[in-house]
Amino acid sequence: MQAQQGIFISFEGIDGAGKSTHIQALADLFKTSGREVTLTREPGGTELAEKLRQMVLNDSMDPLTESLLVFAARRDHLSTVILPALSKGHVVLCDRFTDATFAYQGGGRGFDLTTLTQLESWVQTNQDGRFTQPDLTLWFVLEPGIAAQRLASARVPDRFESQPVKFFESVHSAYLSRATTQPTRFSKIDASQSIEAVWAQVHSAVIGKKWLAV
Ligand code: TYD
Repeated sequence: MQAQQGIFISFEGIDGAGKSTHIQALADLFKTSGREVTLTREPGGTELAEKLRQMVLNDSMDPLTESLLVFAARRDHLSTVILPALSKGHVVLCDRFTDATFAYQGGGRGFDLTTLTQLESWVQTNQDGRFTQPDLTLWFVLEPGIAAQRLASARVPDRFESQPVKFFESVHSAYLSRATTQPTRFSKIDASQSIEAVWAQVHSAVIGKKWLAV
């Protein structure tokens, strides 16, 4: 029997866009169809990367430091969790990946995109020279004002969630330019609809890739 190929799917969008429910539902669907699933997140996903996450979300720092920390976390996550899982044929579902760095540090903080591109290349190129990035990115799109309303009642905000709507407009624009330059990888999900309607879009994006039978 031929070994199953790993599948790498990331979930992106501004805070409050409502990715979480759908990540879990997609994990359950893949498991039901007989696939092994690695469900993870960024920044985080390893012991070291979770420590870096706490710093990034809570401590004040300049945008270069912030970018270096998220990429350091990503390097550890990729080499110890994501790549081994993909090589075992798992479906890796990752709550945020490098598009979030381009969106938040690049768009939101206004940090230099050329430096981010250099870091992306260093961190995501393996020893054998292969570049790793998601096979599919589900991009949850919601108007920043509505996302802010959804978040307001939810919890104590972190360093990003406490930013003004204008910050999230810049984050959105940066996601849009990544999606425009890499249209086959990105699938846009209209997150303003009901949970069922959003799930239907997620489902059809995955079915469209022929990774699930139904
Ligand atoms: P998030 O993924 O939304 O987790 P939670 O559901 O616990 O809020 O939060 C992570 C935050 O980190 C989010 O505000 C975006 C930010 N972030 C960056 O700024 N850069 C990155 O590279 C990544 C992965 C996340």
